[in-house]
Amino acid sequence: MHGAATAGHREDGVTGPAPTPPAALLSIRALRVDLRAEGELRRVIHDVTLDVAEGESVGLVGESGSGKSMTARAVARLLPEGAVTGGEIVFDGEPVLTLRGAALRRFRRGGIATIFQDPAAHINPVRTIGDHLTEGLRLVRGVDAREAERRAAAMLGEVGIAGGERRLRQHPHELSGGMLQRVMIASVLLDEPRLILADEPTTALDVTTQSEVMALLSELSRERRLAMLYITHDLELAAGVCDRTAVMYAGAVMEVQRSAALNDGPLNPYTAALLAARPRVDARSDRLEAIAGRPRSAFEAPEGCVFADRCPHVEDACVAERQELRPLAGGLVRCRRAEELRGRLGHA
Ligand SMILES: Nc1ncnc2c1ncn2[C@@H]1O[C@H](COP(=O)(O)OP(=O)(O)O)[C@@H](O)[C@H]1O
Ligand SMILES: [Mg+2]
Repeated sequence: MHGAATAGHREDGVTGPAPTPPAALLSIRALRVDLRAEGELRRVIHDVTLDVAEGESVGLVGESGSGKSMTARAVARLLPEGAVTGGEIVFDGEPVLTLRGAALRRFRRGGIATIFQDPAAHINPVRTIGDHLTEGLRLVRGVDAREAERRAAAMLGEVGIAGGERRLRQHPHELSGGMLQRVMIASVLLDEPRLILADEPTTALDVTTQSEVMALLSELSRERRLAMLYITHDLELAAGVCDRTAVMYAGAVMEVQRSAALNDGPLNPYTAALLAARPRVDARSDRLEAIAGRPRSAFEAPEGCVFADRCPHVEDACVAERQELRPLAGGLVRCRRAEELRGRLGHA
């Protein structure tokens, strides 16, 4: 379809090779994850397929328990002890799931950085902000202490924290949640990663701080052309800052689309249900149209389509067979009725 050698016609009138899509920096193919719980293996991811290109930001959205964090942890090779994986994850041309020993340690030090929901849980309370920020520079990169402090203070300025020199001597408890999350962002940027995994980075913050931190993160990653996998339960938040958005349910990716197209043209009934469930200020009725039933994790999902038991468009065949993720309308969808329902799933 889009071979590199095919001549294309560009909008500026110049005829030349058609632009090829950038090669994926991160490529996740049919990822499966089983975790050990109460002595048995329990499937928590059953089919995640997703690409993140160099410099691209992709949202990963889904209800609680859908497997967003486990997807991120599989990518960072931080799954709980005893986890069994299947499928493939390739980062920068290297298969990730099979890395061992020294290669795994190298992988964990470079290229991918994670920002978690609760910064306080990931920063040592008895050490200073300066220790935290300069550690990687000093111990991993051999930067001398004064230079490391200079860089750390400058980075605090970039994330909107004034008086960097003084802040370096403070302890985590002296900073607000929003400030601490900015420190975490500074610490991640000092690592110079190529991909940021941001797992609900603003969920623990108040609403105003949330949007400030989000704006900062997306601005800094854009400026530096960093790729980002941005995880949240808030579909519109993700669509607002990400180039593309993937919607996850019960351990499977249900839909991937350009964020701009998602809001008005969801391809999967689950995406439409998520959009309808979000309270809107312009809503005529103030009743929240929640999705009927409880969210499922992969191990409790029905045999056929994982959303079948909550889907308003379910048919017998949906219950009978598992669905594959397939291309449609420039995106990807997992729903056997997608063509038929297209254009009828908007929430307006
Ligand atoms: N350490 C664990 N052991 C067993 N099951 C777990 C563990 N952590 C999470 N789970 C289960 O894995 C599923 C996916 O969890 P998670 O990826 O954290 O979801 P999300 O981030 O989308 O809320 C859930 O059913 C959760 O209960
Ligand atoms: Mg999570």
